[in-house]
Amino acid sequence: MARRQSTPTIDDPFDALEPLERDIFHTRVELYWHDVVRPLRRLYGERADFDQWAKSLLAIAKRGYTRRPAELRLLDLRRQGEPDWFQKPDMLGYVAYTDRFAGNLAGVAEHIAYLNELGVTYLHLMPLLQPRPGSNDGGYAVADYRAVNPALGTMADLARLAAELRANGISLCIDLVCNHTAKEHEWARKAVNGDPAYQDYYLMYPDRTIPDEYEKTLPEVFPDFKPGNFTYYEAIDRWVWTTFNEYQWDLNYANPAVLGEMFEIILYLANQGVEILRLDAVAFMWKRLGTDSQNQPEAHDILQVFRALSRIAAPGLVLKAEAIVSPPKLIPYLGRGEATNKECELAYHNVFMVLLWSGLAERRVTLMTRALQNMPPIPSGASWVTYVRCHDDIGWAVTDEDAAEVGLSGAGHRAFLSEFYSGRFAGTFARGATFQYNPRTNDRRISGSCASLAGLEQALETKDPAATELAIRRVMLLHNLIFVFGGTPLLYMGDELGLLNDMSFQDNPDLMDDNRWMHRPAMNWARAAERHDWWSLPGRIFNGMLRMLDARRRTPALHAQAGAFAVWTHNEAVFGLLRDSPRGRVLALANFSERPQTVPGYRLHEMFFGGRLVDRLTGRIVESAPGITLEGYEAMWLTPETEIDPAALEAIKKMRGETGQ
Ligand code: GLC
Repeated sequence: MARRQSTPTIDDPFDALEPLERDIFHTRVELYWHDVVRPLRRLYGERADFDQWAKSLLAIAKRGYTRRPAELRLLDLRRQGEPDWFQKPDMLGYVAYTDRFAGNLAGVAEHIAYLNELGVTYLHLMPLLQPRPGSNDGGYAVADYRAVNPALGTMADLARLAAELRANGISLCIDLVCNHTAKEHEWARKAVNGDPAYQDYYLMYPDRTIPDEYEKTLPEVFPDFKPGNFTYYEAIDRWVWTTFNEYQWDLNYANPAVLGEMFEIILYLANQGVEILRLDAVAFMWKRLGTDSQNQPEAHDILQVFRALSRIAAPGLVLKAEAIVSPPKLIPYLGRGEATNKECELAYHNVFMVLLWSGLAERRVTLMTRALQNMPPIPSGASWVTYVRCHDDIGWAVTDEDAAEVGLSGAGHRAFLSEFYSGRFAGTFARGATFQYNPRTNDRRISGSCASLAGLEQALETKDPAATELAIRRVMLLHNLIFVFGGTPLLYMGDELGLLNDMSFQDNPDLMDDNRWMHRPAMNWARAAERHDWWSLPGRIFNGMLRMLDARRRTPALHAQAGAFAVWTHNEAVFGLLRDSPRGRVLALANFSERPQTVPGYRLHEMFFGGRLVDRLTGRIVESAPGITLEGYEAMWLTPETEIDPAALEAIKKMRGETGQ
């Protein structure tokens, strides 16, 4: 692309683009501008200077487009030609802290072979932009969005890594903390220095009058760290809105300048080669008096503006919503009504994650089945991100209504789950810890690694081989379900090796107050090296996962666009998930108890799964009559033999070294 040498005005570099490149931009503006303006008007339409703000957003999009490297423009083209790329059954995400996984960004590149071995196509590196010094909420208190944490590398290193990952079939995902900045961010410093334009970037009040009004209906996210949602700063004599920690200042999106700044950052990061942005804490982006100030319609409008604007400047970019909220509040982040396919492409299915753990504790899947049945389907162009564990605590997102429908008390069940997973419930297998007990609501969230919560820590400590076996099976069962559900499954670093809780955070003064660090261990490469020994513990888990992932890749019916319907199996210990679409049918059965369980044949016939069925996980053929028995914690992915293409069937059998029956 030819560029002029003279000092550019804003439009100069754009004018210097090839005419075709300019036409492409203008065409996208024609296509998507109304998708920008509709939500934008809802947000700021009352303002006299609305048109000016809208124009300034377009100018940002133009600048971002102009600066987009040629290689990424090609990526945009490829993504538009294959818009379901993140919905395919070969997608697999991996989530890791750069330092804990590989020291720094350069180190990550050295472990690409490991990621390829797992079949990873999407790598989420946990917060890596320049954080505030000292405690920084695991990097979620960002002081500079245009710089990388120097301990991990530079922005150039990030761009280099993104390109190298892409060359190896892996898309890079990073966090964009868009609800708040660190109080050390330049905008906050200017606000503290008395600049009214920057004070308007945040929500600050001269006294307690308005904060007190808000507090009447606001929950507390970190009641242990910081009670209340506001913090007083003497230097400015103001109460600042701080939903999370004191040092994380909520941004004021009622000010369109904030939205513009954030969009500029989005494009800046996309232009480094970041392909997926995890938009952090999006539920909190808009405040409204008399409400919990979460999931407000305007928060959705902001996301729709981001989405439509990025379609214009960087259409290859995928937006992922991190909204850890209850089922009815969650679905809209994937776009609903007129915003169908016009909000985030991805959102965390925290509800499914919670229900998986709930089912394990109860050995019963009624709540999971009913709660999933109560969730409406998602738009065709969107996908769930499914996961078993992440870096955060588990909050029991079970509604009272869903619980009541299966005869449970919501509060009682949530309390039971906290007891069970903190290790206090008699007979529990789990080793976890309570995170943020709130005595006002009796809410208790849970920390702990997947393996420890699933019983491995206790089993190894008591040197109990039978319990160890069961714990491994639980780990496999949960992963099996996130692989079959549809969407992008995320493997959380170390879970593929069964890493246990790591209590070393207690020795670090910056981390010791936050027990979420117990499930953020450093990668244990020595343990990873054991994965090739099939009989070792990491070997069993790692290779078990590879087998499931292999089956997933070979099953087109698991594409995210295929419906995922929770079905009653007539055995309340066995979860049934029907994946049904023109791509084919799969009935996943998953036994949530340690004992063998049978799904009656008549029930299978009712669902048109009668006769000879192929388990796509093992290649085994099972007969539906008189019933199908699953071993403790066993799962099957069944398709009627007659519905499998003969060549595919042969391949399944061969891969399993089976001759069929
Ligand atoms: C998100 C992050 C969490 C962080 C919070 C505040 O929920 O996942 O780790 O504490 O946002 O940024």
